[in-house]
Amino acid sequence: MCAYYENGTEKIKQGDTARYLTREITILEAKHIKSSKRMRIVYLANEREITLEVPYKTVIGAMDLVSRKPTPPKINEMGQEVVEGYACKPKDFDATRPIMHFKYQLYICEGERCAKAGKVDKSAQLRAILKRMGLNQGQHRIKISRTGCFGACRFRQVAQCVANTQANGNVANNALWFRQTHQWSEAQWERLFEALRDDTPLSEVVDEEAYIPMRVYG
Ligand code: FES
Repeated sequence: MCAYYENGTEKIKQGDTARYLTREITILEAKHIKSSKRMRIVYLANEREITLEVPYKTVIGAMDLVSRKPTPPKINEMGQEVVEGYACKPKDFDATRPIMHFKYQLYICEGERCAKAGKVDKSAQLRAILKRMGLNQGQHRIKISRTGCFGACRFRQVAQCVANTQANGNVANNALWFRQTHQWSEAQWERLFEALRDDTPLSEVVDEEAYIPMRVYG
């Protein structure tokens, strides 16, 4: 959802040079405000910053695009150019391309009950932390996967850690289940990720009561 120049087809984008009424302006910001479904447009005119807020899809009359700097292509974590409008879909599709290595895979339950307990988009939040820590790619990559109900809703929000023991994952950290992870702080997640990176057994950094016990019934 965007705002458009007067021609109704060209989206208003950050970095554009445009003409608004009689003045030449530079678009400093063109930002989506999801909560209100509006666009915030900040532009520079005669050295003054001016802010407009308009509903999505608004066509701004008397504002025309003059020029746009070519934007560098977006590259995904596998180093491929991405199709416009997508987060990581590669332009050159190769059905035989190997999957991206991961040392650990962390499954975050987004079944109905766990998702309700979590409230925030936990997977997105964890991916952002991993990116910041440089663990979203490379030899120590930790992959976050959303999953449906594990059938263990009483422990919500459930997470499971799986080590890639075929590669460099530490078997001591394989098949571990965690409960109430929605209550973990960002610092706790960082400690867990550091331990996975450094091959430290999670038993050294995660409190005993955080694990979901397992037993054979019947
Ligand atoms: S909803 Fe997560 S275990 Fe059931």
